[in-house]
Amino acid sequence: MNIIPKITPIYQTSVFKFEDLDAVQQYFDEPGSRYLYSRNGNPNSDELAEAVNRWEGGAGAVATGSGMAAIFAALMTYCQAGDHVLCAADIYGGSAALLNQELSRLGVSVSYVPFEELYELRPYVQASTKLLLCETMSNPLLRVVDLRAMATECHQHGLKLVVDNTFATPVLTKPLAFGADLVLHSVTKYLAGHSDVTAGAVVARTAEDAARLRQIGMVFGLTLSPMESWLSVRGMKTMRLRVAAHSHNAQQVADFLDLHPAVQAVYYPGLPTHPQHALAATQGHGLFSGMLSFRLPDDVAVVNRFMQRSQRFPFAPSLAGVDSSCSHPLYTSHRALADDQLAELGITVGLIRLSVGIEPVEELLADLAHALA
Ligand SMILES: Cc1ncc(COP(=O)(O)O)c(C=O)c1O
Repeated sequence: MNIIPKITPIYQTSVFKFEDLDAVQQYFDEPGSRYLYSRNGNPNSDELAEAVNRWEGGAGAVATGSGMAAIFAALMTYCQAGDHVLCAADIYGGSAALLNQELSRLGVSVSYVPFEELYELRPYVQASTKLLLCETMSNPLLRVVDLRAMATECHQHGLKLVVDNTFATPVLTKPLAFGADLVLHSVTKYLAGHSDVTAGAVVARTAEDAARLRQIGMVFGLTLSPMESWLSVRGMKTMRLRVAAHSHNAQQVADFLDLHPAVQAVYYPGLPTHPQHALAATQGHGLFSGMLSFRLPDDVAVVNRFMQRSQRFPFAPSLAGVDSSCSHPLYTSHRALADDQLAELGITVGLIRLSVGIEPVEELLADLAHALA
């Protein structure tokens, strides 16, 4: 019987068998000819890495156990003890925690660059500076980085540009095409898309960096399991459709909140008043993603009332699932930031982040109207 499945089966195995020593020698002599051990490589994690690589237009990729593992692998590709990195001040709190609390212990230091100064790096660059880390669309304030200008500025100073493309996804923006050296994802979010997987991926522009990434994934043990890889691959098949639907719904939610008297400010690049609206429109091909933040009065009771009254935006501190949710940067994703970082960014009690899902938008607007009444 010749069984040819349409979909890659789940190779739920930690190890692969060899006939004899010649067979294992072949594994080492002919990379990619067979599999040995799932931490080093597995058909499912390779399929995911290749899917992300194809979307981002890279030279090779590694699938990782989480988005955090992806950030770590990306930084380790270029850094060793004694090195210095630059990081956009607008950054996911976990990235800041990794840099401030953990990589600092390993001798990698960090300086944060305010958004307005990203294209003038000279005052921040040291002899040991290796790279700059930024997000295409920042978490949680949706500031949009001009990736072409960013890559030019980094390369002028001999720095690599590492871009976290989690919020934008390659449906909107492919950072490597603008000159980024590595692009990474929390696959947990839009790539997998259903809030049922924790995963990550890093894609390299050059084959040399891709090989380094795979080595780092393997020896630090950052790689992803077969089942999570399989789920992520399945999710990615609908990513183009989902991200378009998320974006269309988010635009309507942003327009609604922008006019609502209880809302003090809305942060969404699709609004014409957003400071990087024009850039976001070109860089995102007319889509602005499903993420937005808005500001209520800085009063815990007001925020709690919104969370308690909303049925369609449950408080679930993640994002990018097909079902809508809300999160609270100060209490969750960004609590690792220092007080002065939080104050500078304006991450206060009243700031709420919405992940707009793909439900019928009238239901979402009715729910928000009720929750804000
Ligand atoms: C922009 C961004 N990057 C990275 C991560 C980390 O990803 P993970 O939770 O999959 O480790 C997150 C998580 O929220 C994120 O929002």
